[in-house]
Amino acid sequence: MRPTRAEILLDAIAHNLSVVKNAAAGRKILAVVKADAYGHGVVPVARRLQAEGVDGFGVALAEEGIELREAGIDRTILVLNGINGGAHREIIAAGLTPVLYEVSEASAFERVSGGRPIDIHLKVDTGMGRLGVPLAELSAFLRDLRRFPSIRIAGLMTHLSTADADRPYVAEQLAGFAQARGLVRRFGHEPSVLHVANSAALFRHPESHFDWVRVGLALYGYPGSDTVDPPLRPALRWRTEVLRLRILQAGESVGYGRSFRARKETRLATIPVGYGDGLLRSASNRGQVLIAGARCPIVGNVAMDLTTVDVSGVADVAIGDEVLLLGEQGGAALDARDLATAAGTIPYEVLTNVSRRVPRVYLNG
Ligand SMILES: Cc1ncc(COP(=O)(O)O)c(C=O)c1O
Repeated sequence: MRPTRAEILLDAIAHNLSVVKNAAAGRKILAVVKADAYGHGVVPVARRLQAEGVDGFGVALAEEGIELREAGIDRTILVLNGINGGAHREIIAAGLTPVLYEVSEASAFERVSGGRPIDIHLKVDTGMGRLGVPLAELSAFLRDLRRFPSIRIAGLMTHLSTADADRPYVAEQLAGFAQARGLVRRFGHEPSVLHVANSAALFRHPESHFDWVRVGLALYGYPGSDTVDPPLRPALRWRTEVLRLRILQAGESVGYGRSFRARKETRLATIPVGYGDGLLRSASNRGQVLIAGARCPIVGNVAMDLTTVDVSGVADVAIGDEVLLLGEQGGAALDARDLATAAGTIPYEVLTNVSRRVPRVYLNG
């Protein structure tokens, strides 16, 4: 196996679920495991979460839900992004719960269900501006939906755009959600579950908790907001090993484009990881790695398979020494927030970007 691999700490995910449960104070937990469980590998992660008693799963795509069913996941699976590409029959056959916000989709479901009732979750757009029925169109939508009596609104949801930041806008969205709830009731529907909160809202906005919370990032170890600090543990440890060592003399450069030139004699380690593995190229000359518990700066441009780091500050570095891009080593830690800040992005992108070329190794304990 390559020395470059992602170790997935399943006990950390179980621990994070217990932190989430605590914060949710009795609400049901829908674990968001789209995009291969944010890069952690969906099947082992979902199996562990199911064994730990999670109530359901959220995926973006029907294909992701079907993969979970084939792996033996038997809880509710909500297809958050609605139906892309006409997978209505497959969604019903796999027992997935669709999110709906287009009347044409209701019609397609009724056609393939042969009149059997179908439970859907209605998504309303209270201010994210992407998916969902806009509030202004909700009455017309509900009127149209009467033509499809087999469609039952089992759940009502919306998605917050500033749960990590702008409190007044969250309040506006929640007011819109209350309005939507009133309208849905007036049309004779009584959804049994309401849900709004993502990770940041779980920790910052108890008023958004309702019946379910839909939590992704927190399960992988990050709260989704810099203003809260729950005791979560990052679940992905990204490691590699020193491949080669060399000395740059003052004035010499390293890598494509010569973006780093040594001002003085500099000891470099080359590591076998690059943007082909998902290390963002924007971390060039900005990111850091851990070697022997010391932070070593990335110098030069990250290439497809190789990256160079300055190890001048670390005594006795040898070929084969462990290098961490993410994780804890010798009392020091680097996490996806550090790498995201260096690369000008967010932890979600750092984690989902770790590519298929990086083997995932699942560890308990
Ligand atoms: C509709 C919906 N709900 C919940 C989540 C989970 O968000 P987070 O990972 O911030 O908890 C997502 C993820 O983007 C989402 O798209």
